[in-house]
Amino acid sequence: MAIIMDGNGRWGLKHKNSRNLGHKEGLKTVEMVMKYCIKKHIKFLTLYAFSTENWKRPLKERNYLFNLLEIYLKEKLEKINNEKIKIKILGEKKFSKKLNKLLDFSEKMTTKNTKLQINLALNYGSKKELVYAFNKLKKKSRISENDIDNCLYTKNIPDPEILIRTGNTQRLSNFLLWQAAYTEIFFEKKLWPDFKNEDLNKIINKFRNIKRNFGKV
Ligand code: IPE
Ligand code: IPE
Ligand code: MG
Repeated sequence: MAIIMDGNGRWGLKHKNSRNLGHKEGLKTVEMVMKYCIKKHIKFLTLYAFSTENWKRPLKERNYLFNLLEIYLKEKLEKINNEKIKIKILGEKKFSKKLNKLLDFSEKMTTKNTKLQINLALNYGSKKELVYAFNKLKKKSRISENDIDNCLYTKNIPDPEILIRTGNTQRLSNFLLWQAAYTEIFFEKKLWPDFKNEDLNKIINKFRNIKRNFGKV
């Protein structure tokens, strides 16, 4: 399952007169979804947390987001590890030295865990990822789909079956363009902090009733 967690800013402005407080509130939904995945035996959860385009946001908001992540990991990494959750970062780690190190450490510490893999898309852009893959492959004379799969940040991660975007916007915003070739996409009106367990249940039930053709009849 992959999620574009959109709508924090609008939620924050509406309820707390601050975009940043919306991001803080959104973290609660992240925890809810993590628990949900463990309960329902969903093995891979890919979360879009910061896009290559999000660098265009004001420094204050960027710093707030990175701080939030840093504090969260410092506080919860041990618990995450005890719950046998594996953390993998998708995207180039181009943050503060401190955060880069913490992200590396989180990946290393949890690398053997198998209960749930959380792929955190951070400084992630699908086009950047494809350019990175093509550059790795440029010496090859013939390139297969498998070769490309194996050079993406998502190497060894199955393509998502479900992609959810909250926040009442219907676009992919440079997320998993290659990997979502056959993904079932669900656009959710609710803002990310308002997204609840029952909304996830509804989506999973809809997904179960979809006939996935993959081109066949
Ligand atoms: C969260 O939602 C996405 C992140 C970049 C963390 P937004 O911050 O884009 O919220 P809206 O779309 O402005 O409401
Ligand atoms: C997509 O949301 C990126 C993340 C959720 C991290 P945005 O809010 O940045 O997308 P756009 O700019 O509206 O397309
Ligand atoms: Mg947004």
